[in-house]
Amino acid sequence: MKLITAIIKPVKFDYVYAALEKIGIAGFTATEVQGITQLEPHRGTEGMASFRLKIKIEVAVSDEQLGPVIEVITNAANTGRSGDGRVYVTPLEQSIRIRTGEACEDAG
Ligand SMILES: Nc1ncnc2c1ncn2[C@@H]1O[C@H](COP(=O)(O)OP(=O)(O)OP(=O)(O)O)[C@@H](O)[C@H]1O
Ligand SMILES: [Mg+2]
Repeated sequence: MKLITAIIKPVKFDYVYAALEKIGIAGFTATEVQGITQLEPHRGTEGMASFRLKIKIEVAVSDEQLGPVIEVITNAANTGRSGDGRVYVTPLEQSIRIRTGEACEDAG
């Protein structure tokens, strides 16, 4: 299993939601976050941090789902402009259902 953490523009959240639903993703977590990146040097603001509202999407997936989910997110969240975001992939060891305490075979 893998944990996909995607930082996207809020304006693209509905597209990403719909695209994930369309390929059968059963659940994910979305959080409003402050995205911090360097401002662009050509604007004379080099070195200053830029705080921008972003949406962080966390999706736990099987290894087979990883490629398709990355593709769906990158397509749906793309405006072609800077600041479109990033997708991070982390190895995921376990997924445990709290109600039963069982370690689940699937991501969620
Ligand atoms: N090293 C990092 N660790 C964790 N989060 C990061 C890191 N770098 C960027 N981010 C997050 O990713 C968000 C999106 O970054 P951004 O879209 O500017 O990426 P980029 O690689 O600079 O792409 P672009 O060239 O299109 O601007 C940031 O707002 C921040 O939330
Ligand atoms: Mg950037």
